Amino acid sequence: MQIAKTASELKAQIKQWRQQGLTIGFVPTMGNLHQGHASLVEVAKQKADKVVVSIFVNPMQFDNPDDLAIYPRTIDDDCEVLTALGSDLLFLPTPEIVYPNGLEGRTFVEVPKLCDMFCGASRPGHFRGVTTVVNKLFNLVEPDLAVFGEKDFQQLLIIRRMVEDLFINVEIIGAPTKREPSGLAMSSRNNYLTDEQRTGQAPIIYRALKLIRDEIKGGNLQFNALEQAAIDMIDQAGLKSDFITVLNGQTLEPAKEQDRSIVILAAAFLGKARLIDNLYFEY
Ligand code: PAF
Repeated sequence: MQIAKTASELKAQIKQWRQQGLTIGFVPTMGNLHQGHASLVEVAKQKADKVVVSIFVNPMQFDNPDDLAIYPRTIDDDCEVLTALGSDLLFLPTPEIVYPNGLEGRTFVEVPKLCDMFCGASRPGHFRGVTTVVNKLFNLVEPDLAVFGEKDFQQLLIIRRMVEDLFINVEIIGAPTKREPSGLAMSSRNNYLTDEQRTGQAPIIYRALKLIRDEIKGGNLQFNALEQAAIDMIDQAGLKSDFITVLNGQTLEPAKEQDRSIVILAAAFLGKARLIDNLYFEY
């Protein structure tokens, strides 16, 4: 696997592949790779001739400097994982490359409304940081397709909207959430949990999501009551729920009885981690 640390190294390789008529799949990440990321790379490999992965812990999407400081950085292990997966190129830029004029007063890209709700409300500025960096990375890599995890459901929806609104020439592919045997969604943030939190407490989030889904499929459309029951279940397990919300799976508007595409979004705090998960279904 090649490593490009500058935009010109990256662009030179991309240009060569383009001249050979090869297609390029892209997987943007913040590193600390786990099986969830591996599945994104595998999807990209199936769909494109060459796979570029970026690792960049994007300062602009952290609303809390302490969170940025402790975010796990495991570059040597990540390189091994990516090499074993058969990635073709790792783009490893510095903040100076991604933000050449510094972070203050930088140009940004934002998808209003969708960026402000749920995780956006809990983490002001977070999605503006995500859309801005993803836009920059798309401009540098110019991929044919890019793969994002469905675990970050709101992020995926926002990126799809940005690509549509700005006519960005890239196909966005969502890859299914990878879960630990307990049902806990895989995330770099699971590393903040103790063993007991990880196996004993955190899996309650997915159990609560499944419970709501089963109730809805069984005809119980008392969405507020279902949300409250899930919040109580999660809080009683010792987590602190941020939100559990039943939404229209396309618009993220509160679900209505006639909706048949549903997503339940969940976020909860446990120890040092803020965990998110979701369950999408049609019925
Ligand atoms: O999902 C992530 O890891 C990040 O938000 C992303 C898309 C790599 C942008 O920094």
